[in-house]
Amino acid sequence: MEDKNYYAEQLNSQMLFQVYDTKISRIDQYLEEEINRVKKDLKAEDKLLEVGCGYGRILKKLAGSAGFVKGIDISKDSINFAKDYLKDYKNVELEVADFHTMKNDKKFDVIILLQNALSAIKGDPKETIAKSLSMLKDSGKLYISTYSKNFWDQRIEWFEEQADKKLLGQIDYDKTKDGVIICKDGFKAITFTEEDFEKLAKATGYKYSIEEVDGSSLFLIIKKEKANQ
Ligand SMILES: C[S@@+](CC[C@H](N)C(=O)[O-])C[C@H]1O[C@@H](n2cnc3c(N)ncnc32)[C@H](O)[C@@H]1O
Repeated sequence: MEDKNYYAEQLNSQMLFQVYDTKISRIDQYLEEEINRVKKDLKAEDKLLEVGCGYGRILKKLAGSAGFVKGIDISKDSINFAKDYLKDYKNVELEVADFHTMKNDKKFDVIILLQNALSAIKGDPKETIAKSLSMLKDSGKLYISTYSKNFWDQRIEWFEEQADKKLLGQIDYDKTKDGVIICKDGFKAITFTEEDFEKLAKATGYKYSIEEVDGSSLFLIIKKEKANQ
């Protein structure tokens, strides 16, 4: 039960939209600042890929700052929603694909896995990072974000809001702790600590930085350049 891909099978399109349609202003700020962290580095000619793009919430805010943006998601319903949500943008491509098995011949300047995607897309984080790096151009950047440990109370409040809207099961407080949220219907979301990110990044041999943003997100940014250059 806990291993199922909850976002793909249940929390997609319209329901995913409701997740982000929050009444909690601190969550709105967190979501905005997470996007802004990527946006501030983007160049007008950049080709960007978002892994697990959902209904296109983030791509809509980045499309105007990049040359081309592509989103892939395992959920056909979410991609159909995204096609409509982003219909006014001409530099957007959307594809239904499982990141772990997808074939790709394009290379990107920027790849993003935001909103704790390293947890949401399941699979082995080390392999997810290796595959992402293989899809980046030399000197391209991979942005991965998770929740800051300082944002636990707000994160719980947001997940309670989602449970109240029946988007998730009720939070199982016996099992929910140390950055891991478990709901009574089997939903599970983990997080990555600074040490986890450090270990994952070091293993790539590329340059990296780890930053807390807005007191809410923890970012791992890997640049595809050998660490000793
Ligand atoms: C937490 S949601 C985030 C959606 C979007 N990034 C946003 O912030 O609005 C995670 C997304 O990852 C997608 N997903 C899950 N597993 C995936 C996989 N193996 N390959 C591609 N997408 C996946 C889900 O369908 C879902 O839309």
